[in-house]
Amino acid sequence: MGIWSDQVVPRMTDLVLGTPAVRRLREEVLAGLHGDVVEVGFGSGPNAALYPPGVRRVRALEPSAVATRRAAKRIAAAPVPIELVGLDAQRLPLESASMDTAISTFTLCTIPDVERALGELVRVLKPGGTFCFLEHGRSPVDAVARWQRRLDPFQQRLAAGCHLDRPIDRLIEGAGLRIATMRHDELPGPRVLRPLGYLYLGTATKPVA
Ligand SMILES: C[S@@+](CC[C@H](N)C(=O)[O-])C[C@H]1O[C@@H](n2cnc3c(N)ncnc32)[C@H](O)[C@@H]1O
Repeated sequence: MGIWSDQVVPRMTDLVLGTPAVRRLREEVLAGLHGDVVEVGFGSGPNAALYPPGVRRVRALEPSAVATRRAAKRIAAAPVPIELVGLDAQRLPLESASMDTAISTFTLCTIPDVERALGELVRVLKPGGTFCFLEHGRSPVDAVARWQRRLDPFQQRLAAGCHLDRPIDRLIEGAGLRIATMRHDELPGPRVLRPLGYLYLGTATKPVA
């Protein structure tokens, strides 16, 4: 980790993913949360103000010290209690089958072993529990997907390990979750940015048996 990923990327992330248009997408996805919640990749807390009233408590994980320092004020002002319980989504310090819902926004792109992190989310969710997601990933448009593949090595260096072309729906289903609702959108911005912003928004449930 260098100055770029430690200091610059968290601030850059806040700018790019802190627009009113992205906030509306966050509100849409967070509306599915209730009860005891785990959020992975909490960042500087852009979701903190948006937790709906049915949420009892949030356990959050975030490895970036800069981001968590920036999150402190948002955590203090949040409408529900939020506790930072760890760093790494690949190893959740939570009991199995203890969470009602889970959330990840713009984080499955960056976690190094994303299959393992999704496996951990499945482990800590109660049977019938819901995973809410707002992620960017592989476009179904071949020409865009080709650009995503080409640009991926640069994006990884520019954005601290972020991948452009992860197949988010396949990864979620591969972990054993069933996608209940899903729609796609694009990050608002010029057409040339399309490889950066093919969005997956939805909910997936952990099967009961
Ligand atoms: C693009 S940022 C998104 C931040 C925030 N979730 C949002 O919606 O704006 C990706 C986040 O994933 C975090 N991250 C990277 N590796 C992680 C890991 N192994 N476990 C949990 N979070 C991780 C990064 O530190 C960063 O805060």
